[in-house]
Amino acid sequence: MAEFSAVASVADIPPGTAKDFTINGEFVAIVNCDGEFFAINNICSHAYAEMADGEVDSDECTIECPLHGSIFSLASGRPRTLPAVTPIATYPVQVVDDVVHVAV
Ligand code: FES
Repeated sequence: MAEFSAVASVADIPPGTAKDFTINGEFVAIVNCDGEFFAINNICSHAYAEMADGEVDSDECTIECPLHGSIFSLASGRPRTLPAVTPIATYPVQVVDDVVHVAV
């Protein structure tokens, strides 16, 4: 099982925003949904778009792909709307002492 890496401080990723990181060679978007943190692969499963540039819906805990608009669940990585049909990888997140840790 992957080990958790300290990636960012909580203050770096305000509620309703996403930020991209490279963790163990993987492109990862960390998303703050109203204080709850999620980590997904930063590349859309449909074509090439960076999910960290997408719009976060903090009520639904989803993110919208900035290129063609598929909406993905942050918890499962599954697309809720077309054109994407394949889930995006998700990664476990822990917050310890205001530092976001991700296992990739
Ligand atoms: S690249 Fe994301 S929906 Fe097409």
